[in-house]
Amino acid sequence: MKNVQPFKALNWLETAKILDAPASGVQRLVHAVLPRGWVKDLLHGVPQGHPLHPVLVQLPIGTWSSAVLLDLFPGTGKAAKLLVGTGLASSLPTALAGLADFSELHRQHRRVGLVHAGANILGTAVFAASLVQRARGYDGAGRQLARLGLLLVAAGGSLGGHLAYHQAAGANHAESVPHRVPDGWHRLGELDEFAPGHLVRRMLGDIPLLVWRPDDGTEVFALAGQCSHLAGPLADGAVTGPAGRECVECPWHGSTFQLRTGEVVRGPATAPQPRFRTRTVGSAVEVSPAEAG
Ligand code: FES
Repeated sequence: MKNVQPFKALNWLETAKILDAPASGVQRLVHAVLPRGWVKDLLHGVPQGHPLHPVLVQLPIGTWSSAVLLDLFPGTGKAAKLLVGTGLASSLPTALAGLADFSELHRQHRRVGLVHAGANILGTAVFAASLVQRARGYDGAGRQLARLGLLLVAAGGSLGGHLAYHQAAGANHAESVPHRVPDGWHRLGELDEFAPGHLVRRMLGDIPLLVWRPDDGTEVFALAGQCSHLAGPLADGAVTGPAGRECVECPWHGSTFQLRTGEVVRGPATAPQPRFRTRTVGSAVEVSPAEAG
């Protein structure tokens, strides 16, 4: 079945190279203003273990939609004005969280993300004008502007949906890994194929795993090999952190995971790396999905 016109346009945006220069400019600006650290991790949603932007976005969209609905009824001017103002106040943290995510995406994502942000910024400016008009007593103009603002924000929101669902920009890219591994134990190789202190990529059928032994070589740890952020190859990353709390840093955008547990230490990833149980049988290393009995 072919895509209908509006959705074809969404696909076209992904390939619009003309957007690369401004999108890269915004990305550089965000990196300069928001360097990696706890503030950026908070905006990504690392402490919550869930992307923050899609949670925050409910506030401006919900309040502005409600304001436009209330505008249809007489005697609701005060409540509608309060809702427009609340939406404006919540739009700042929402935009910051979106920009933090935007700065750690692929080029095709950033093209769509740039237009998504542009439509929302424009919509926000129109709602600000609506609030000003209402405050000056021009309720009719305020209502008209709010309707226009909602149209712009709805267009921006559709692009956000395309980013999240079509391009999987905010999805957990490692979630499927343990489900694809049958229950039970599976042989990975001989113990001496996994040199202590080194990251090793090992395929279990077509499933990439990351295998690591601490320097003392006593245990073997295995995580999903594709980063939960955007499926980067973790085995090409670097081992960081002190002994006992070693981490792997993804080579693509620097997400950092505990090698023993898969826990996220640094974003942009918000979902942990799926972890596998391991055991040594004779000289052979075996893995099993962590939930298996
Ligand atoms: S793919 Fe982005 S941090 Fe790993």
